[in-house]
Amino acid sequence: MTEAGMEVFMRGIPKAELHLHIEGTLEPEMVFALARKHGVKLKFPSVEALRAAYDFHNLQSFLDIYYEGANVLRDEDDFHAMTAAYIARVHDQGVVHVEIFFDPQTHTERGIAFETALNGIRRGLDEARAKLGMTSRLIMCFLRHMSAESAMQTLQQALPHKDAIHAVGLDSSEMGHPPSKFSAVFRRAREEGFLTVAHAGEEGPPEYIYEALDDLAVSRIDHGVRSEEDAVLCKRLAHENMPLTVCPLSNVKLAVFKRMEDHNLKRLLDMGLCVTVNSDDPAYFGGYLLENFIAVQRALKLTRSDIRKLASNSIEASFMPPEKKQYWLKQIDGFAVAV
Ligand code: HPA
Ligand code: ZN
Repeated sequence: MTEAGMEVFMRGIPKAELHLHIEGTLEPEMVFALARKHGVKLKFPSVEALRAAYDFHNLQSFLDIYYEGANVLRDEDDFHAMTAAYIARVHDQGVVHVEIFFDPQTHTERGIAFETALNGIRRGLDEARAKLGMTSRLIMCFLRHMSAESAMQTLQQALPHKDAIHAVGLDSSEMGHPPSKFSAVFRRAREEGFLTVAHAGEEGPPEYIYEALDDLAVSRIDHGVRSEEDAVLCKRLAHENMPLTVCPLSNVKLAVFKRMEDHNLKRLLDMGLCVTVNSDDPAYFGGYLLENFIAVQRALKLTRSDIRKLASNSIEASFMPPEKKQYWLKQIDGFAVAV
């Protein structure tokens, strides 16, 4: 298959995005527009200067800039505009379903109401469903560098919004903040009916992945690429069909792997793990979902059958109802025969 033909295949195949921080879709142009709107003074003189600062060497160097960018989000319309822009970007990339993270504490810490963020994002997702037929789930993440008490308070704020929030997750600085720090919060979240996911094994060791499985009872591991260091863990992940939401461009940008050619996605896939491709923070890492597929396909020489597996894994690993999964898996089969 030619490179162009492969790109058509990757664009057209129906797929779900399962690891996307909505605050990470804020493009520099929108950061500046919202800063102007609200009279917020930025540390950078121009869009170009801001973009030039996206030269990260690890997770923390990214997070410092990411939280600075999120500071321009002030009212419900801002959260709506950010969400609508993301949906518009991925609609023509064959993305049929999105499960997006939001970080309420990033906003409530600055005095922005929980509902301001939630309602703006929700409105964007409702419109995506009504106008484009794109379905979605919302996952509320706790910032792991903050206390378990703060996470518990955030969970309390989510309780009146169970209709909108499907699952809880864990993000921000991984090292030194193991999943077990949040065991009680996640137990309470499960009792309240939320599904759970957690970032683990991006920078942190395999032990953090075990903790996410055993202490937080997660349905998916976000990233999880360091599972490769532990053969017993890999066997377990394969046996339990535990999905990993892998983010190739993010991993190279944050120096988890030096070059895309070094990425272990293909090895994990060949070990029988339920690997999916995702974009994490596309405005910061140089590409949305399709660009992640293209980059990793070229560097690792993935085949059509690998791409098909990654797409069907994304549907199976999603939180859609079973009949929707069946529908999209059939569509993938039909697409793969036709193209
Ligand atoms: N890891 C941890 N926290 C994050 C990330 C990530 O990749 N993106 C946004 N918050
Ligand atoms: Zn992430």
